[in-house]
Amino acid sequence: MKILGIETSCDETAAAVVEDGRKVLSNIIASQVDIHARYGGVVPEVASRQHVIHMTPAVAEALESAGVAMDELDAVAVTYGPGLAGSLLVGLNFAKALAFSLGIPLLCMNHLEGHIYSAWLRRDDAPDPGTEPGFPFLCLIASGGHTDLVQMEAHGRYRLLGRTRDDAAGEAFDKAARILGLGFPGGPEIQRVSGGALGKESLPRAWLKDTQDFSFSGVKTALLHKAQDRGIYPPPGELEREDMEREVREMAAAFQDSVVDVMVSKTLAAAEKWSARGIILGGGVTANALLRERMLQQSSLPVLIPPPVLCTDNGAMMAACGYYHLIRGHRSSFDLDVDPSLSLE
Ligand code: KG4
Ligand code: ZN
Repeated sequence: MKILGIETSCDETAAAVVEDGRKVLSNIIASQVDIHARYGGVVPEVASRQHVIHMTPAVAEALESAGVAMDELDAVAVTYGPGLAGSLLVGLNFAKALAFSLGIPLLCMNHLEGHIYSAWLRRDDAPDPGTEPGFPFLCLIASGGHTDLVQMEAHGRYRLLGRTRDDAAGEAFDKAARILGLGFPGGPEIQRVSGGALGKESLPRAWLKDTQDFSFSGVKTALLHKAQDRGIYPPPGELEREDMEREVREMAAAFQDSVVDVMVSKTLAAAEKWSARGIILGGGVTANALLRERMLQQSSLPVLIPPPVLCTDNGAMMAACGYYHLIRGHRSSFDLDVDPSLSLE
């Protein structure tokens, strides 16, 4: 079964063809990052206009590089929330028109559930996670808009255990990068400059004991105060350039260490508490090398981590998600609207 997956919830116009929910035949991502970088963040109106420009070419390219003709598609899966309303509308309306004209099922999917289904996208002959290691999974979804701990009991059965009370992890990375005078998006920039090395800097952790919730605004404020004390923020700083580079590197490393430490510890504690058989990571922040390394080092359970390109937003994860709905007999109505604040439960 071949499903076209479409994803336009934020600033990537993404289209992919996935066979039987697991085999990626193509995965096209038209990134708008260079356009939004100028403004230091995603500008919603600009994002939706860019989706209009890139949607048709992205789908055409996804079909062509998969070697699949339009009339060979069995269904169209698309994100209908959560995300930016104007961005979601472009992908959803495109998917509706295509599915309607081809007379095939439309599958409107939750973006967060899509991130979880990246774990089903097969690498070589990896076994089906549903049977090996099997349910339940403890999922950490960490992106620009969410930091959620979710128990996945079976396909389509989720329980939200904890979430961020303020900034999402990705949002905190993006703001920290801005404080340190680095580029957008901040996560890859912080990872790049910190280079894995920890200096003498350290930043606080919000443990929020006895809950599965997160908080990242405190560490961001602590970073801001340090950057102000050292004359790094607001730019330009007064320190010598060489000193400044070292200070930025050490502060970026300390920030990354703090955020990763909390996410790893809380995910492992929740997995133990709820007797998970495996851990799934999803969302842009889980592309972070330190997070991936520590999670693999510290977990006694199998950890399913998609390759970085499938952690950030993509169409393949939506097609995989759609497949597992389709085989359970689900179909979406053509009058379904976008839902910018859709939740998983
Ligand atoms: O899932 P995603 O692509 O889009 C949303 O659904 O939000 O996540 C984007 C977020 C951004 O905040 C970005 O800074 C962060 O993921 N990110 C990273 C890394 N790569 C992307 N954060 C930390 N380390 C990375 N390597
Ligand atoms: Zn995402």
